[in-house]
Amino acid sequence: MYQTIILGSILLVSFYILKRVRKPKFNMPPLVRYNIPIIGHTYSYTFNSEEFLKQCKKEYGGIFSIYVWGQVRTIVGKEYSQEILSRDDAFNFGKAFFEIIPYDLLLKHMGLVNMLNMPKLLKEHIFCKLNFYSERMQKCLHSATQKYIDSNVHDDPKVFDNMYFLIIKIISTPVANVFIGEEESKYDEVVTTFAEFTSDLSTLIKIPPFLNFFYPGLLNRILVSSGLYNPAIKHRNILIKHIKNQVCKRLKGKAKYGDSWKRPDDLLQDIIEQENIDFNNVNYPSLADKMLLFLFASIHTTSNGCANAFMDLASHPQYIQELYEEQLEVHKEADENGVLPFEALDNMKKLDSFIRESLRLTGHILALDHSVLKDYTFSNGLQLPKDHTVKIYVDDIYQDELLQGPNPKSFEPFRHVDTNVPASKIGKNFMLFGGGKHACPGRHFAINEIKFFLHNIILKYNICTKSGKIEGRRMYGPTAYPSSSGIIIEKRVK
Ligand code: HEM
Repeated sequence: MYQTIILGSILLVSFYILKRVRKPKFNMPPLVRYNIPIIGHTYSYTFNSEEFLKQCKKEYGGIFSIYVWGQVRTIVGKEYSQEILSRDDAFNFGKAFFEIIPYDLLLKHMGLVNMLNMPKLLKEHIFCKLNFYSERMQKCLHSATQKYIDSNVHDDPKVFDNMYFLIIKIISTPVANVFIGEEESKYDEVVTTFAEFTSDLSTLIKIPPFLNFFYPGLLNRILVSSGLYNPAIKHRNILIKHIKNQVCKRLKGKAKYGDSWKRPDDLLQDIIEQENIDFNNVNYPSLADKMLLFLFASIHTTSNGCANAFMDLASHPQYIQELYEEQLEVHKEADENGVLPFEALDNMKKLDSFIRESLRLTGHILALDHSVLKDYTFSNGLQLPKDHTVKIYVDDIYQDELLQGPNPKSFEPFRHVDTNVPASKIGKNFMLFGGGKHACPGRHFAINEIKFFLHNIILKYNICTKSGKIEGRRMYGPTAYPSSSGIIIEKRVK
């Protein structure tokens, strides 16, 4: 017993010393002073990140390093953050993300080539066809809103807790329709898998990474590879079942009708054709893993943004009337099923500005972790070695008056109407979608979905917070999540 403790302590101290050894002759960013070895800045980073980082920046300048969970991490403020996003030869988002979510273990049937090919596949088959998918997206949002909200709101107002879990189901409905097809997406368990896989994975993000002292991401790798926590297993099996259904059906249909077979329009069919999949020899686990990869990129992110916008709407009822009038006007263009033409999105100027403001104030203090791919020298001469991880100090960007305009931290939902900046516009003052060559290509898809959803909500319901107060974000260390506080929803009297 004593021997194990002694050996463990020796190992921990050796790792500590090793991690702190700095590359000789490297002009590394200053390491913020700390008092307790091993623990370093972990406590302040976790429980008081906003004030802690503000203080660090004041003392150490625009780039500094901190010691958290056994690792030295470099924090990059507003002055240098564009260098990270524009130099994709030197910095990589995916590599840093896989350190937290071990995709190679979770989606082991897919292979690295497929993983790297994901943005191209989505760009070629989904993002260039947003107009084509717009009607289906709206119909799915209508039916999901009916199912998850309307059917629970009768004559009296109804309180809903933790809107995120309800919104993630609503957001998953059109995504399932477009990804796996109209037929299979009608099954509850498919929508549930689309919704739950991403929320299950975010549990991995929230687990304190105790074993990073030994190796970054080690705890999550153990949890996933041992099967102690591997949400992909359950969800993969459900997807395999439904993908099989479709492949068999499509195989039979094509054999029976030949050239007159009506090809389904969805991502599944696009993948089958692009990869020339032989129907008699389908690798179902690989197809299912591909779907799972698309889900994390698309669902948690959009649901987070949508739930934040919903909470902001309920928290600021004084803006609802103005938004309502705009939606009434836009709705004149709807057909008898309530479906809007794609172009109607451009006429929701106030709603678009509201969403941009909500996204701008998402509330992360740090975000957009990137791995350093090769030794790098910043424009100010500071250097970082290969395999180091940097975090962008986004709160520094959102607090800046020069970048954001007056009262940068206050929620002013119509501030983007006059400047005519759409919600999807990225730039050095708006980094939620990253930037440079790898900026999120799904942002238009996400914003359209949020706009169509809120258009409907504003027309149909009155909403407010149960507390009657503004509900801010929930913080886990430097990362923000939508508030889980109660919301009152009642049907609007027309
Ligand atoms: C509010 C919703 C969303 C947010 C906040 C978001 C955020 C991001 C961020 C921060 C990145 C990394 C950018 C970088 O490396 O600089 C990214 C990349 C990506 N996102 Fe999104 N995203 C959202 C919605 C979506 C949706 C709906 C899809 C797909 C349907 C999607 C697909 C992708 C893909 C494929 C990439 C990788 C791009 C590349 O590596 O070239 N995203 N997203």
